[in-house]
Amino acid sequence: MGRMTALLPRGGGLLLLLFLLRPLPFLLPGSAGLRLLLSDSSPFNCSQLGLKCVVKNSTCMDESWVHSSVLTPSAPSTVDVHLDIFQDKEGKLLPVLQIQWMVATDASIRSFRGVELTVLQVNDNRQICTWFDFQNNLMLQAPPGGGRWNFTFNRFEVQPGQMYHVTVYHLPKLGIQGDHNRKSKEYKVPDCEDKRMRRTTPCVQMGSLWEPSIDGKHLEDGSVLVSFNPGKEPARYQIHVTGFLDKKICMDTTQEVPKVTTLPIASLLKPDKVLPPHSRGVPTWGKPISTTEQLLILRTIHKVCR
Ligand SMILES: *[C@@H]1O[C@H](CO)[C@@H](O)[C@H](O)[C@H]1NC(C)=O
Ligand SMILES: *[C@@H]1O[C@H](CO)[C@@H](O)[C@H](O)[C@H]1NC(C)=O
Ligand SMILES: *[C@@H]1O[C@H](CO)[C@@H](O)[C@H](O)[C@H]1NC(C)=O
Repeated sequence: MGRMTALLPRGGGLLLLLFLLRPLPFLLPGSAGLRLLLSDSSPFNCSQLGLKCVVKNSTCMDESWVHSSVLTPSAPSTVDVHLDIFQDKEGKLLPVLQIQWMVATDASIRSFRGVELTVLQVNDNRQICTWFDFQNNLMLQAPPGGGRWNFTFNRFEVQPGQMYHVTVYHLPKLGIQGDHNRKSKEYKVPDCEDKRMRRTTPCVQMGSLWEPSIDGKHLEDGSVLVSFNPGKEPARYQIHVTGFLDKKICMDTTQEVPKVTTLPIASLLKPDKVLPPHSRGVPTWGKPISTTEQLLILRTIHKVCR
């Protein structure tokens, strides 16, 4: 997350650009990346009228890989993958894949014993699976209530901005040469800029709802006072200040702010009280001026630029 602002200080000639960057650790607390949400949330019910079905953990190695069956069902006729938001027991809003597929309307439905769903996270090749274990055989090509046999599953938690490869296998798998009874789909999860993703827990932890209100003030002695509003979640920040003189960059500095958790309540300090003695180009930390503000004082900018 980056935010910027520009200001023209009085006394002329110097333009400052301030960037506020929030470095993102790859895996954030509370965001486990690719994960199957079976045990830590309300049970998923894959049964429907005419079919008793149980969702189980899977090793991604259905036994039909090893013991091939004589008759196997057809591949799904369609597979669709969308974004869904799942609220877990703790009230966290988690981005999940909504996987929907249709069963082919043919007699192979009689040998349809279950489904293996595989999700591969492309960036690190991590793969997890789940298994729909059918407790009875489907005897009708179409469900008693009309329409087509179709299924939906939305318990694979995914990461913002990542690419996934989703495969739906109808079980038992085909053990011989022939038309494989699986269908795959690629899906890229929108990043935290997306309207629906913004309010999910992993995006909020990355600062998607954060209003930093970054500001810079030019002080009498030529230093710059930078203030901003830290996000609600503990995080580290990076501040980048660029000075321009006669349209040329004359000063460029980057400073990392140590992890800010909660700031102590302090009375408003006059900037001159926190100004340390001049020392060329070394940024110094000021003191918090309120519960939501942190001051960074960068000194000797004029000297560097002249
Ligand atoms: C699961 O869904 C089926 C069909 O909609 C329903 O008959 C059954 O009661 C549900 N089971 C549970 C545990 O909710
Ligand atoms: C799935 O496996 C996890 C551990 O990997 C376990 O905690 C959980 O209870 C299992 N869930 C089901 C539905 O078997
Ligand atoms: C999908 O299945 C449901 C029952 O679970 C059914 O009501 C619906 O019509 C089916 N959709 C299609 C497109 O056949």
